[in-house]
Amino acid sequence: MPGTRTRPLGQVTRGKTAPNRLRKTDAFLALAFPEFVRHLPGVYIDLGYGAYPITSVETLTRLRRLNPELRVIGVEIDPARVAAAEASRQPGLEFRLGGFNLPLVNHETAAVVRAFNVLRQYSEAEVAAALSALAIGMCPGALLIEGTSNPTGHLMTFNLYQKSNEQLIPLGLVLAPGLRHDFAPRQLQPVLPKNHIHHAAPDGPIDRFFALWTRAWSAARAHGSDMRQVFSASAGRLREAGYAIDPRPALLRRGFLWLKPPWPAPHPPP
Ligand SMILES: C[S@@+](CC[C@H](N)C(=O)[O-])C[C@H]1O[C@@H](n2cnc3c(N)ncnc32)[C@H](O)[C@@H]1O
Repeated sequence: MPGTRTRPLGQVTRGKTAPNRLRKTDAFLALAFPEFVRHLPGVYIDLGYGAYPITSVETLTRLRRLNPELRVIGVEIDPARVAAAEASRQPGLEFRLGGFNLPLVNHETAAVVRAFNVLRQYSEAEVAAALSALAIGMCPGALLIEGTSNPTGHLMTFNLYQKSNEQLIPLGLVLAPGLRHDFAPRQLQPVLPKNHIHHAAPDGPIDRFFALWTRAWSAARAHGSDMRQVFSASAGRLREAGYAIDPRPALLRRGFLWLKPPWPAPHPPP
């Protein structure tokens, strides 16, 4: 079986997952990188899919609409979860035992790696080594989506990285709330990725960002109740304050606030 010869890097953690929990990551890729998804130069790795492989199955189904050739490999460090997932194997989808050192075989390479709700269960000191190990299996131009969500996936944030010159280059942080109901920006703070969650001290750059977004949200909310419009208007205020936010209406309308480097500090400083 592939991936059994090298010891998987990492540790077994809680396997909590849910249907549609990672739906937004598929929508984001399809909206932000449609051409890349159509012509993926490698496989899609769903790293740490959890107790059952619903997120891998759903991603195959959704992204196949853009790319019928898509191959998804669900990777888990818990052998029992890999064995249980075998029942969901189908053309374009398989499951392997593995860790941050991806269990790729022969000339396989990863074009997308999604590690969701995985690093949150590690210490912050382990993040850099995990990212370096992941990068080895990724092809030039490959994307890494690493983030955290609440149990339903209605509140989600993720770091985006792209492999270039053998390194993972940060492309920023995406903040993605559900917009069906009213929302307060601070609700996203508890689901910040591991590298940010412990750095939101009062009056620090992250706290100041959320304070500003909260004011922008309230101001926009006073003029309307369509959450998509409120979201876009609040993003406009953040851009005026110097935050490098992706301005594409297609992303903003779907509730994707993509903060590009130098997040969390704005540029130029206010
Ligand atoms: C909380 S679940 C997340 C499930 C799914 N990704 C989601 O967001 O709904 C985390 C899973 O990651 C697995 N895991 C932790 N470290 C891993 C690693 N280094 N490589 C592969 N899987 C890992 C755990 O065994 C666990 O099943």
